[in-house]
Parts: sequence; structure tokens; C-alpha cells
Amino acid sequence: MDARSIIAQVRQGETPTEAEITWFAEGLANGDVTDAQAGAFAMAIWQRGMSVDARRALTAAMRDSGDVLTWDLPGPVVDKHSTGGVGDCVSLLLAPALAVCGAYVPMISGRGLGHTGGTLDKLEAIPGVNTQVSEDDLRRIVAEVGCAIVGATGAIAPADKRLYAVRDVTATVDSVDLITASILSKKLAASPEALILDIKIGSGAFMKTPEEARELATSLVETANAAGCATLGMITDMNQPLVPALGNALEVAEVMRALSGERRGRILEITEALGGVLLAQVGLASDADDGAAKIKAALRDGRAKTCFAKMIAALGGPTDFEDNWLAHLAVAPDVVEVRAEADGYVTAMDGEALGHLVVRLGGGRLTESDEIDPAVGISDLLPLGAVVGAGDVIARVHGARADVVAVEAERLRAAVTVSPEVPVVPALLVERLG
Ligand code: URA
Repeated sequence: MDARSIIAQVRQGETPTEAEITWFAEGLANGDVTDAQAGAFAMAIWQRGMSVDARRALTAAMRDSGDVLTWDLPGPVVDKHSTGGVGDCVSLLLAPALAVCGAYVPMISGRGLGHTGGTLDKLEAIPGVNTQVSEDDLRRIVAEVGCAIVGATGAIAPADKRLYAVRDVTATVDSVDLITASILSKKLAASPEALILDIKIGSGAFMKTPEEARELATSLVETANAAGCATLGMITDMNQPLVPALGNALEVAEVMRALSGERRGRILEITEALGGVLLAQVGLASDADDGAAKIKAALRDGRAKTCFAKMIAALGGPTDFEDNWLAHLAVAPDVVEVRAEADGYVTAMDGEALGHLVVRLGGGRLTESDEIDPAVGISDLLPLGAVVGAGDVIARVHGARADVVAVEAERLRAAVTVSPEVPVVPALLVERLG
């Protein structure tokens, strides 16, 4: 086969055969396809789009370009994926909660992308945690603990690793077809029986409008189901963070507070909703409400916290994290309070600006080789709808250098709108698909 003719077909809006798409994905993985050809292929897809069948074929071929895991466990294997947001640490709560409800969760996760935080970066804020484990270790931890949140090894979907790097430098990241194949090739390589997709919409998400979110959600849900994995989607609000903190160690602290019963609110509401439909899908609950009640109980009675701490220890972290978590989390040397200038309500937040602010503080990467500072970020951020008086603290900014923190504190004030009108706070659960 010939890469040029496959690229030309896509460029003309024609659909290559399944065999051709499989050949191209294998060529991405084994180097037979050059970077120039990979870039041209991505641009042709970005411009012309793909048919549903071609998108499904590309997803399956990219999944099969590397190892596809098999399981022999006494319960169903399930997984969850979020399209990315700010202050979104749901995976850290949901994976252990699902595990104590009888599911097994090999959660292959990612790092921060653009303004959004990454689950692996959050976990690695815990000293000693190593998320780059071998497939054998992944299998062992999932069997022993019930869940493992890890990075993809080089052997998982290598075609995506190659294509993603090329997309990043050819302005072809934002294509629904390519995002679908990229996300699902990695998720499906872990062979879950059921998958829940949390498609974020709003100021802190990649998808800003309902139309964009629905298009991506439909593509992901249809493609994953066509590939044989029972998949449901939820479009959920990301016009404000799910916890009052952004930044790796600060978000882990919020997770531990939620797992200790000290926090309620949006983070638990969404964890229960996503977990509920997943448990019902695999027969561990009679319906989504029953499933949500089971997740709620696991979070409330401390079983999810114990399971999370076991996973942390199995990944090389402290063995006493369940009880002594606060002592293990890094603290930034400089913390500045940001105060409201007038009375009113918190009416809007620019989530993307808040995410970029954390990246500039050192909590994310501007280039691939950047080291992350786990301690920096934002805490005590008031939610949308909060009543504030002039001079009240609306958030705290944590950083390593006083001059940088002072600049970012001013940016935070600009990113959070306080005004006299009573706001309409968007509902958390926007739409369910599948
Ligand atoms: N996450 C991925 O893994 N791939 C994309 O294309 C976008 C987000």
C-alpha cells in the first residue's frame, strides 16, 4: 500500500478501505509512514472530516497498533474519561469508589494539556508516586487493589503517540475525528467492558458551546460502542472548577477532604452520577440511582479513602497516606489573598484564564520538558453564586516567587467577576448520551 494514495483519498473527501486505514496506523507505529505523511494525513482529516465507518476503523487500528490488555478478574473492568477541565479531580475519587463497589478500574490517564490539569500530574504531587508502571505491575495492582491510575506505556497505542506529536505541531489537534480516535485508542486498549465519558462544556473546558460538546460527545459514544465497548456519555458543566482549588497538591488535598467526608458539593455530585450509570451498566447496581447511592456510601464510610491510599502505596507513595496525607503534600512558600473590590455575587469565572494562571505559576507545562511545581495553584476559590462583601477573600494564590504571585493574583481578580446581579448558576449535569 501507499501512504500518498491514502492521504489523497482523505483529501478528496473519499473513504479509504479499512485495510488501508489499518496499514496507515501500523505505519505510524513502525515508522513506515514519515512525519510529513502523518502531518498531511492529519490535515486532510482536519479539513475533510471522516465518515463514521472510517473514524471507527481509524480508532480500532490505532488501538491495535500496540498492546491490547486482557483481563481475568472476578468482576467487570470499567473506566472513565474526561475531556478535560480545571479543578477536575473526579478520577481520583471515582476509581477507588468503583473498586470498592466490585468493579476493576485500570485507568490509563493523561497529563495536563493546555490550560487543563492532568490526572497523572495530580497523583505525582504525592511524593514517591510513579505512574509509569509496566503492564505486569498494572495488572497486579488492579487485581490486588481494584484500581490503578497510570500513564500509557510506550506499547499502548503507539500510533496515537506518533500522530498526537505531529498534530501538536501542525495545528490539527482540534478535529473531532482525530480527538475521538486519539482518546479512544488509548482507552479501548485497556479493554474495559464499560466506559463513561465526561464531556466538559464551559469556560474551563475545550468545548465552549453546547453544539461543540454534543458533536464530540456523540462521536465518542458512537465510536466506542461501535468498537464493542458499552459506552455512555454525560455532558457536564465546567464554567467553574469542581473543587475550590486548582493545582496539583491543592487538588489532592481537596480529594482527601472529600474522601474523609469533609467536603460535599459538585465534586461528589458528579462522581456519584458518573459512577452510578457505570455500576448499572455492568450489573453491579439495579439502576443509575442505585449505583449513585452505592458510590455515595463508598465515599462516605471511608472505604474509597482506604482503597485510594492502598493504590498510592502500590504506586510507590507513602504507606501512611490515609491518615497523614496533609504532612506529605508540598506547600508553596508564598500565599496571597485576593479580595473582592465591591459587594455582590460571584457571577462568572474565566476557567481557561484560571487554568493558564496555574500553568504560569509552575503548576503545568509550557513546553514538554518543563518540571511541574506540585505546590502552586489557587485555593479557597468561591463558587459561582457566592455572596461577597467588599474586602472578602475570593481566593488564595500559592506560588514559589512573591513577584510572580502578585502578578497572578491581579489576573485572578480579573478572571472572577463580582457584580450586583443574582447569577443563574449552570446545572452540573447538562445531558446524558447513550
Ligand atoms: N486527549 C487525547 O488523548 N487526545 C486528543 O486528541 C485530545 C485530548
